[in-house]
Amino acid sequence: MIIDYLKGKAILAPMAGVADRAFRELCVEHSAAFVVTDMVSAKGLTMHDRKSKELIALSEEERPAAIQLFGSDPQIMAHAVYLLLDNKPDIIDINMGCPAPKIVSNGCGSALMKNPELIEEIVRAVVRETTIPITVKIRAGWDENSVNAVEVAKRIQQAGASAITIHGRTRQQMYAPSVNLNIIKEVKEAVSIPVIGNGDIVDGKTAKHMLDYTNCDAIMIGRGALGNPWVFEQVNAYLKDGTLLSPPTIEERMETMLSHVEKLCLYKGKKIGMMEARKHAAWYIKGIRGAAAFRQEIGMLSDMDELKAMSQKVIEAFYQNNI
Ligand SMILES: Cc1cc2nc3c(=O)[nH]c(=O)nc-3n(C[C@H](O)[C@H](O)[C@H](O)COP(=O)(O)O)c2cc1C
Repeated sequence: MIIDYLKGKAILAPMAGVADRAFRELCVEHSAAFVVTDMVSAKGLTMHDRKSKELIALSEEERPAAIQLFGSDPQIMAHAVYLLLDNKPDIIDINMGCPAPKIVSNGCGSALMKNPELIEEIVRAVVRETTIPITVKIRAGWDENSVNAVEVAKRIQQAGASAITIHGRTRQQMYAPSVNLNIIKEVKEAVSIPVIGNGDIVDGKTAKHMLDYTNCDAIMIGRGALGNPWVFEQVNAYLKDGTLLSPPTIEERMETMLSHVEKLCLYKGKKIGMMEARKHAAWYIKGIRGAAAFRQEIGMLSDMDELKAMSQKVIEAFYQNNI
């Protein structure tokens, strides 16, 4: 069983443009059970698109790792699976939950929730192509009038998938209101393959609540890990025996931010790395007393020296505000 060989129950969610190699390695270092790449276009891979090929690259430091594919044509999806086998993913995940207009307008992502027969065909086609476990990430349904995750999950299981992740919201709901735990519970009751619950998990308590309420086998964390890779250790400790780990110190936070951005620059080059560093830096300082004053500075960061100087000022501001 796919879940049995994982070292914990907390998985890093795929987050396009955010959960890249640098962040995934960091989350594995902080005990994420496995990580998932950005969604990659199956069509792009079959057309040998350079960007798509870059997205499926996996390093040894981020394993176990899943490559996530999106697409709606079973043959193209199967061909894409064949093409990514050289990258040796531990898992291949199929995206059937993305709500973005440019994805759903092509019949991909969560638009597939409107077509359970096609979902089954896609899963069958990709399962036939490889012995690597295939997992599928779905939503509750397209909208509140068509909540069909249970039917979809049964079809996914029937087609040979190894696990299902369910984000307990419909496509129409995008990322709010709060997640519907009942639909995750219903999916878990309906299938025998492992079910991974997803939505709004931010710490040990919310993780335990999801696991207890829905009886799901593992949980996936997205936004709760932004600027907060410690969340995986915190969840693991809480699930083990209720331990509440202390949050990282301000120094630890800043050190982690710096090494994260160093990796970003190493893997993507200084220009792109520093551009992307801005959003990560904003997440790392979120909630730190006195740090709001640095928001504007973050928007103009252009090299590591500036980031180091800013991190020093954040530390000073933190202690001044704590007196
Ligand atoms: C910036 C961002 C990018 C995302 N990209 C993907 C993606 O590529 N594939 C996918 O299946 N879900 C994607 N998601 C959805 C997340 O994986 C997750 O299902 C969602 O954020 C709910 O979990 P959370 O409440 O823990 O954030 C993305 C979410 C965010 C915030």
